[in-house]
Amino acid sequence: MARKFVVGGNWKMNGDKKQINEIIGFLKSGPLNQDTEVVVGVPAIYLELVRTCVPASIGVAAQNCYKVPKGAFTGEISPAMIKDVGADWVILGHSERRQIFGESDELIAEKVCHALESGLKVIACIGETLEEREAGKTEEVVFRQTKAIAAKVNDWSNVVIAYEPVWAIGTGKTATPQQAQDVHKALRQWICENIDAKVGNSIRIQYGGSVTAANCKELASQPDIDGFLVGGASLKPEFVNIVNAKQ
Ligand code: G3P
Repeated sequence: MARKFVVGGNWKMNGDKKQINEIIGFLKSGPLNQDTEVVVGVPAIYLELVRTCVPASIGVAAQNCYKVPKGAFTGEISPAMIKDVGADWVILGHSERRQIFGESDELIAEKVCHALESGLKVIACIGETLEEREAGKTEEVVFRQTKAIAAKVNDWSNVVIAYEPVWAIGTGKTATPQQAQDVHKALRQWICENIDAKVGNSIRIQYGGSVTAANCKELASQPDIDGFLVGGASLKPEFVNIVNAKQ
């Protein structure tokens, strides 16, 4: 079965009610390609507001969650809470969580596992730093990050992987379509060989890192790129063009 193109907007720690209204405005006017699944990754405090205002066809994602349902974990939110306010996705393992907040492969895997068990869909982010790429370790890193998740997860049907090379995030330096395709293809093959061929062929792998209206079409034409996770450009009307990138 063909993999449905999926485009996520990761707003990160951006937006206030006024800006969110503007974003909802351009999402509603679209038009958005009906064959593409759209998800917006929203700061936790605005999840319920956004869920109430965006069309039901658009998924709403938290940008993080903890690995247990409740308890003495000041400042954290659980998948149960995300579901309780009507959101259905969570972004986990973003490089900003890994680098700024020190999240390990193992913690991320535990979060992915608990989020899935709680009934959320997960966008699981992986990707190498510039140093790792220059040392020829790109595949080693993304395979290791995926393997950690595979150690805890059996059912991959509600998982989307976002390959986001760290050097391309927020830098304006996009991976070339060929660079992205090479990693996506290698990762898919690794999943086929090390997890399950059916999972490898059906799992959707997004590309993230300085995706814009100008570069999205060529990236979308690559056979193993099944969508995007978009940061900066998801706050602007050009996000509609990115959603519609797949021809
Ligand atoms: O999760 C999306 C992301 O990290 C890419 O950000 O601003 O480079 O599109 P940006």
